[in-house]
Amino acid sequence: LRHLLTLDGLPEPILQQIFSLADSFLEVSERAVKKVPLLRGKSVFNIFFENSTRTRTTFEIAAARLSADVVNLNIATSSTAKGESLLDTIDNLCAMMADMFVIRHAASGAPVRIAQHLAERGLDHVRVLNAGDGRHAHPTQGLLDMYTIRHYKKEFTRLTVAVVGDVLHSRVARSEIAALTTLGVPEVRVAGPKTLLPKALGELGVQVTHDLDEALDGVDVIMMLRLQNERMHGSFIATTAEYHECWGLTPERLKRAKPDAIVMHPGPMNRGVEIASSVADGPQAVILPQVTFGIAIRMAVFTLLAGVAPGGLA
Ligand code: CP
Repeated sequence: LRHLLTLDGLPEPILQQIFSLADSFLEVSERAVKKVPLLRGKSVFNIFFENSTRTRTTFEIAAARLSADVVNLNIATSSTAKGESLLDTIDNLCAMMADMFVIRHAASGAPVRIAQHLAERGLDHVRVLNAGDGRHAHPTQGLLDMYTIRHYKKEFTRLTVAVVGDVLHSRVARSEIAALTTLGVPEVRVAGPKTLLPKALGELGVQVTHDLDEALDGVDVIMMLRLQNERMHGSFIATTAEYHECWGLTPERLKRAKPDAIVMHPGPMNRGVEIASSVADGPQAVILPQVTFGIAIRMAVFTLLAGVAPGGLA
């Protein structure tokens, strides 16, 4: 694996390899062991054209725990603000001996374009990690979500999983659905208002419903999605209160799921909109463990792409 751009088409053995690697990094990610030198001498550039709390920070922590040199480019104060193009920015950072780019961009396909550009320049040693591009993909979020499910449910092949909410604008949902399918989850239910579900969902082999109660009936895992107001440009007309009324995960609705069902959310949450605070902070929520697992997963991906995964797991 040279770059991590999407989970679409990524075979199950690679997903399992990443989970095994993440297992081996759990102690370091949780700071029982301080650092390992696997990326010593490598430069990782975090380039986030969209805001982030979890992804940018956990990529930074993961790189630091692997002893890489980490540079966080501040887009607001960078020469992007003077009109420098994305690819010129990449060329200049390559001239500073970048080894790995972690890219978040509003445009779907930006990380793919960067990977093509690096190949055209003959920079085959430089790696690209997609940290979320437009509505397209958020592969490390999909991986850490699967790793969280594996932690709590142990295996995938007997699970029923509901993915609920604003699927239309969600790169997270696309990566989750790709990974759930690859890992053999037999029943993936995708639920949301008609206006917030993409048309071609049925082709992905998932069950589509516009009824939240039906979606939640007897499920093992509930993956809630954020209502992405910033991508709607006024096209979605329900108020947040109306949305909560129809699509919010409340304690009453949660009772429809299995008693040991886990509740997930990639964050940031709109409390009181797609999820009630009492559910987000309740005993079935694993939303903060998702964040912690993101460090080990990102360490795993860094080492796999850099070709320095520990013995037996490379
Ligand atoms: N889940 C996620 O991508 O969160 P951030 O936008 O804070 O990185």
